[in-house]
Parts: sequence; structure tokens; C-alpha cells
Amino acid sequence: MAIRKVCVLGAGLMGSGIAQVCAQAGYQVAMRDIEQRFVDGGMNTIKKNLAREVEKGKRTQADMDAVLGRIRPTLDIKEAAADADVVVEVIIELLEVKKKVFQELETIVKPECLFFSNTSGVSITAMAAVTKRPEKFIGTHFFNPVPVMKLLEVIRGYETSEQTLQAALEWGKSLGKETIVVNEAPAFAVNRILCPMLNEAFFVLGEGVASAEDIDKGMVLGCNHPIGPLALSDLVGLDTLLHVQENLYRELGDKYRPAPLLVKLVRAGRFGRKSGKGVFDYKK
Ligand code: 3HC
Repeated sequence: MAIRKVCVLGAGLMGSGIAQVCAQAGYQVAMRDIEQRFVDGGMNTIKKNLAREVEKGKRTQADMDAVLGRIRPTLDIKEAAADADVVVEVIIELLEVKKKVFQELETIVKPECLFFSNTSGVSITAMAAVTKRPEKFIGTHFFNPVPVMKLLEVIRGYETSEQTLQAALEWGKSLGKETIVVNEAPAFAVNRILCPMLNEAFFVLGEGVASAEDIDKGMVLGCNHPIGPLALSDLVGLDTLLHVQENLYRELGDKYRPAPLLVKLVRAGRFGRKSGKGVFDYKK
């Protein structure tokens, strides 16, 4: 089935990025969130990103207007999903909440509609199992910032069909992304490797081994990473990182235990760039 209309559920950091790249590629996009301020926040981020490109001469004003014209912000899940060819779920990283939303979607969408989940690590198979279309369910994991990062990690659930896999790969290519295919496993492939490294940086900081600045400088200059692990954690969101790490710990054991300092910062409401404070402070 050809994908033309995309419903993105969630207008946060990742949801708005996914809505933007879909609209840039010519798809009609409905971007839905549960509160007006979240929808407005997502639209503002997209506008800012596009305006920066216009300023740099990388995009015309007319093109920016056309991209924005393809995005329909809404609070109404029925209106957003009823005519969609694919729903991309980008909501909170809690399995039970995601299951509820997919069960609700079942009563709204067309029979042929595909379900894509942009989770950072929640089981694709477990979400698919509560729907009546596990063969049409797949993980499509983008990286932050979505408009910049080249990778789309595509995760096959236990029942995902070959047809759905091909549809997801073609869709990713049409968005200008490179794809990798991964089988269902805790945190998939990239986060399974990345998040324990980020978590370790919080152990190193919490144990007083080095300052936050020196940990990041060490990894940038010593390993050629574009930004240090603590700044990257702030970019990803400390709450998101903790969700992934808790999941790995639950599924794979002690080696993945979340660093106490990471837990403490999340408890303090320091979620990273998006909340203005994480390991480092950011002006809002
Ligand atoms: N949205 C859109 N565009 C952005 C952006 C954003 N949030 N942030 C930066 N950009 C663009 C800039 O406009 C600039 O564009 P240009 O080259 O056309 O001028 C380009 O990206 C480079 O930006 P800057 O010059 O401002 O800054 P940097 O050179 O430091 O690049 C970065 C910023 C691309 C974010 C770089 O620091 C980087 O690559 N960091 C690592 C990112 C990373 O590893 N992401 C993966 C996180 S893991 C994840 O998401 C998975 C999750 O499940 C946990």
C-alpha cells in the first residue's frame, strides 16, 4: 500500500522532528498531542528549524510555507488517524500507556493502516500483540535531532510481515534516511550500545572521577565523538535515557543498572535541554 497520509502521535522533540521530515518529503501529516501547549511547542520547533534554513539560503520562503501547509496540528486522535495510511507513535515511553493508545487506534484507523512505533526501547512485539494487526506493526527508531541525523533503525517484531518491513524501509528512504534492520531485542542495536556508555558517564561523574566538562572533553577529543556523553544525554533527555536503561536492567541484568546520579537528576526534574537543565544548564 502506498503511504501518502501520515499521522504522528506526539509533538515533542522526536514527534515534531518526524512530522517535519515527513512534510519535507511531501507527505500530508497530522501531528497530534494531548494538550494545546505541546502541539504549539512542536509547531514552533518546526517553524524555527525551517526558518533557520531559509536564513541560510538552504530553503525558500515559499518552500517553508508549503512544508508547514502539509502539517495539520490537532488534539483530536480520531481526526488525526482516521484517514492515515500509517500512524507513527511517539508518545511517552511506558508500555502500558502505549498499549492503550494502540488499542484505541484499532477502533479508528483503516484496516490497511500500518503502525510504526518510534520507541527508544519498548518491546515492539509486546505492543503489536495487543493489536489486531501485529503483522502490520514495526519499530521505526529515529535519532535526535531528527532532521539532521541520517539513521533510521527499523525493528522487526515477532509477527512483522516482510511487506511491512519493505514499506518501512521505502518510507525511510523517501525521508532521506539510511536504514538498518534489527530484530526485536531489548533497546534494539544502537541504544543497546549507546545508552550503557552514556550511563557509565554518570557513574564516572557521580564517583568524582572527573568533572562533567572533562568527561565530555575526554570523549570528544579522545574518541572523536561530536559531543560528549553528558551533553548528548542532555540532548536525548535524561528521562528517556533512564527509561531505556531501566528496561535494559530489567531484561538483561545487573551490568545495565542505572547510575544513581542519573536517577537523582531525573527525580530533580533535570531532564536535559528540553527542561532547561540537565547535567548542564541551558537558557530556555
Ligand atoms: N534541529 C534541526 N537542525 C539542527 C538541530 C536541531 N535540533 N541542531 C542542529 N541542527 C543543524 C544546524 O542547523 C546545522 O545545520 P547546517 O549544517 O545546515 O548549518 C547542523 O545541524 C550543525 O549544527 P551546529 O553547527 O549548530 O552544531 P554542531 O555542529 O555541534 O551539530 C549536532 C549539532 C548535529 C546535534 C551534533 O552535535 C551531533 O551530531 N551530536 C550527536 C547527536 C547524536 O548522537 N544523536 C543521537 C542521539 S541517540 C538517540 O536519539 C536515540 C534515542 O532513542 C535515545
